[in-house]
Amino acid sequence: MAKRILSGIQPTSDSFHLGNYLGALKQWVELQEGNDAFYCIVDLHALTGEIDPALLRKRILSSAAQLIALGISPEKSTLFVQSHVAEHNQLGWIMECIAGFGEANRMTQFKDKSAKGGADSARVGLFTYPMLQAADILLYQAHYVPVGEDQRQHIELTRDLATRFNTRFGETFRIPEGYILKSGAKIYDLQEPTNKMSKSSGSAAGVLEIMDTPEANAKKIKSATTDAGREVKFDEKEKPGISNLLTIHSALSGKKISDLENEFAGKGYGDFKGAVAEVVVDYLKPIRTRALELLEDESHLVQILHAGADKARTVASATVAESYKNLGLVL
Ligand code: AMP
Ligand code: TRP
Repeated sequence: MAKRILSGIQPTSDSFHLGNYLGALKQWVELQEGNDAFYCIVDLHALTGEIDPALLRKRILSSAAQLIALGISPEKSTLFVQSHVAEHNQLGWIMECIAGFGEANRMTQFKDKSAKGGADSARVGLFTYPMLQAADILLYQAHYVPVGEDQRQHIELTRDLATRFNTRFGETFRIPEGYILKSGAKIYDLQEPTNKMSKSSGSAAGVLEIMDTPEANAKKIKSATTDAGREVKFDEKEKPGISNLLTIHSALSGKKISDLENEFAGKGYGDFKGAVAEVVVDYLKPIRTRALELLEDESHLVQILHAGADKARTVASATVAESYKNLGLVL
């Protein structure tokens, strides 16, 4: 039976990177098949960080273009922007009134993020972020929420809030399950292959971005940190750099790591990196080209997003009405 899927991603960078793609977005694309998937660009969540209006606008559009380019089909799934569907704020408030201060205070993402900038500079929205996320999920009566391991705690909170609401006010929300993405596809920084590839990572040279030029990405791969020795062998402990490149090659080419080890037996790191660069460039080039095409016609892109929001709103408004009714609000 088709399952309702809901996930969200923040528009907080100019480009998604290969870690986002292989760790999460590729699975979003796969989950579209045979399911009823809702994918949300969570722009309101992005307001909990530094706000640069021109940049935010650009990133929302660019995120949408990239998601479509990498295979999220606006026909197969419902792709939309969170702020286009006001029900997120409506149910978000309800979730804030259901959540306890203590449980919200235990969220490790809040603790980490607020510690970074100093507790005094953290804003209230960063604190209430998980309750808005719970609303994102519960509005759509999702069965599964595909997310990375770091989101497990937010999913647990969502389940707790939904259960509490249902128990106290009557069956309203489906209790969602996290669909924690396989950690097998964890991608590391090319320069510091023991750190995960991340937009907040120190080295721009270590992150392969979808919107980078093919030349730039090829260059980053060719100057990736390699390890002692000359053998192309998967050994995360002794050879984190080569292992990471093997993971990337395998994920994009579909070849088994053991087959790649055989293919490159007796060849040097240089040849291997050249091959990885070719695989990555061949894979990302059409995605980037398509995203740039979509960005050229902004009004068409916005039209696609509005159509997605219309579909999303139909589901979301029914959930809000039900929750309002059960809370005793007069409709
Ligand atoms: P972010 O917004 O950077 O935290 O990432 C969005 C999604 O991409 C999350 O679901 C992460 O689990 C996933 N992701 C981010 N970086 C990596 C990485 N280096 N390897 C695998 N998955 C990643
Ligand atoms: N907090 C998630 C992240 O940082 C993004 C997000 C917001 C989300 N709302 C969501 C993920 C709803 C899944 C479902 O990655």
